Amino acid sequence: MDIVNINELIGNIELFVNKICGKIKKSDIKELRILKTKCFGKNGIITNFSKSLPQYNVSDRKKFGLQLNKAKKILEDAIVKRIEKSKSVYRDSEPHHEKLSYSKDFCFPFPKGSLHPIIQTIQDIIAIFKSLGFAVVDGPELETDWYNFEALNIPEDHPSRDVQDTFYLNENGIKKLLRTHTSPGQIHIMEKQLPPIKIIVPGRVYRNETSDASHSSIFYQIEGLEISENITFMDLKAVLVEFINRFFMSELNLRFRPSYFQFTEPSAEVDIQCNFCKGKGCKICKNLGWMEVLGCGMVHPNVLKSVNYDFQKYIGYAFGIGVERITMLKHNINDIRLFYENDLRFLKQF
Ligand code: PHE
Repeated sequence: MDIVNINELIGNIELFVNKICGKIKKSDIKELRILKTKCFGKNGIITNFSKSLPQYNVSDRKKFGLQLNKAKKILEDAIVKRIEKSKSVYRDSEPHHEKLSYSKDFCFPFPKGSLHPIIQTIQDIIAIFKSLGFAVVDGPELETDWYNFEALNIPEDHPSRDVQDTFYLNENGIKKLLRTHTSPGQIHIMEKQLPPIKIIVPGRVYRNETSDASHSSIFYQIEGLEISENITFMDLKAVLVEFINRFFMSELNLRFRPSYFQFTEPSAEVDIQCNFCKGKGCKICKNLGWMEVLGCGMVHPNVLKSVNYDFQKYIGYAFGIGVERITMLKHNINDIRLFYENDLRFLKQF
């Protein structure tokens, strides 16, 4: 900057400040950012004025410095005031935020998000069971040993606990654990009311597992429970066949394969015929021709006893659906980790 008469320079600063303040008042937030750089940026006018300070003698420098500080304060105040005003505009009248460009942001087609596939599956499953007369209830994720194991006929020394290792914590001196399945939801509801009960319990469950293509330490299940006086395995079968056909939107071949759960007797797992090889055996179904969809069975009398139900009078069935698993079967997804990575290329397909 050329050395100029100090009074002329001070006059220039005043002129500059007045001009910029007028602009600041009228600017939008984007323009404000540009004006701020114009004043205080690396090559901004105020910055350059300051840089030229050493060229003047002591008394001029003093005058100039004072004027410069005054200018800085006026400009900073004007900028702060403008920002405050834009915030209140945003608060008071929602859609008028200055960042929105009406021509660009409100034009068709609207960019639309979609529900995560897991949420979609949970909603679909809930809709199907609601139409079959089931109520939807919630259960805690942090459980005591009683609800997660003992009341479900899994005593402390039972080997079946090994396959459901979980995370233990201490809440106010009480030993708690992250539930390994939604089955404790059965106990909570039975403790609260007498039959008839017809519920599903959707929720997140936890296991101490190393994650790989088919395992995750956090996943979702939907528990089902019906208790009444004259329930048979046929009722369970009818409900599950109806559910599977509606969920997969086609009449699939299924089979009930005998299985084992501590809290049901007899127990079964339901398999659907592999949709890819039509039962011949392929890589996806590990050459079995069938793929496991869910676990189920008739509620064990010991479970009814643990909630003080008359096990001579009441009988029921329960089932547990793995949400990720059934979604993977429906959409031919081969790695459970895809659900949690939030890769838009994956999510946009649903
Ligand atoms: N809780 C079982 C599991 O997590 C599933 C199940 C629920 C089986 C209800 C039978 C009845 O593997």
